[in-house]
Amino acid sequence: MRTLFVTGGAGFIGSAFVRLVLDELPSCEVTNFDALTYAGNPDNLTGLDASRHHFVRGDIADREAVRAAMAENTDAIINFAAESHVDRSITSADEFLRTNVVGTQVLLDAARERKVRRFVQVSTDEVMGSLPEDGNAYFTENSPYEPNSPYAASKAAAEHLVRAAHHTFSLDTVTTRCGNNYGPRQFPEKLIPLVISNALHDETVPVYGDGRNVRDWIYVEDHCRAILHALEKGQSGAIYNIGARNECRNIEVVEAILNKLGKPLSLIRYVKDRLGHDRRYAIDPAKTEAELGWLPLETWESGLRKTIDWYKENSEWIARTRSGAYREFYARQYGTEVGAD
Ligand SMILES: NC(=O)c1ccc[n+]([C@@H]2O[C@H](COP(=O)([O-])OP(=O)(O)OC[C@H]3O[C@@H](n4cnc5c(N)ncnc54)[C@H](O)[C@@H]3O)[C@@H](O)[C@H]2O)c1
Repeated sequence: MRTLFVTGGAGFIGSAFVRLVLDELPSCEVTNFDALTYAGNPDNLTGLDASRHHFVRGDIADREAVRAAMAENTDAIINFAAESHVDRSITSADEFLRTNVVGTQVLLDAARERKVRRFVQVSTDEVMGSLPEDGNAYFTENSPYEPNSPYAASKAAAEHLVRAAHHTFSLDTVTTRCGNNYGPRQFPEKLIPLVISNALHDETVPVYGDGRNVRDWIYVEDHCRAILHALEKGQSGAIYNIGARNECRNIEVVEAILNKLGKPLSLIRYVKDRLGHDRRYAIDPAKTEAELGWLPLETWESGLRKTIDWYKENSEWIARTRSGAYREFYARQYGTEVGAD
């Protein structure tokens, strides 16, 4: 059995990755190490094969906890664990530095100590800043670092630490950078699940600014497949940009979802723009496609349909995530209670 140490595997993308590994690699077992912050959800792990999936609650910035959880024969570390929401990083950056920066260094140290074969850092296109709105510019692996939010800056710092571990200690590392993911089990503070869950409850849908910010959307399983390709076939020390060539303005995303749900566009409520809101992200995935032989399997149409169907069929999952701490966050961010309108 090959042992993968997956961090953040109770979150949105990490849990999809764990599912994919258990489904597609019968000779792999997974240690899933996750602190279960507000974004980590044990509900995301239901139905997994318990003989090959071992969940350990722990903090990646806690060196002893990482050591205790990591098996001696760990083959690879795949680091999804992060504070991942830009809005929260604008309110306070402390946790972003602790988890995204200190936590990544702790994992890199553990990888060296345990002689782990490969370290995969799951990063974001946001480390490269914002592109001109109507240009033909795209992010490539050589784009300069220009992080604009505390979240993006902390992820850029993590990338630098990964690079340094490769350069200084010859640690076998691969960094993947992806655009905006959508799909099942995403915490409803993020745009697509927020729109779906509010619309299903006939509540207004907050849209930042003029709604014309452009994001490059990818179905979560396609992202996870690309990470798996990078783990197996990526060049040591390389960065791979992952994208599905699917640019969309936020307002187009919102309108598409409302239309598919048969809800009126009058639910849209424009709210004060996010501070420092990046205008456009667009990824050139040519290197990933050519070197890793990866292509997305879902179109925007098929991925969005699957996503909407999942949220419709899992109303209990939504109900549980919309309770508790999420209510405080929502009220602070959008100036209204969840379900107040
Ligand atoms: N969501 C996206 O669109 C997107 C796009 C590109 C890259 N990424 C990156 O992918 C990764 C996963 O993103 P996501 O959307 O699934 O995030 P998420 O917020 O849904 O999940 C993050 C997970 O990390 C866990 N975690 C947080 N702090 C931890 C700590 N100190 N120790 C251990 N676990 C901790 C949380 O409990 C949660 O389960 C992140 O690194 C993020 O930067 C996300």
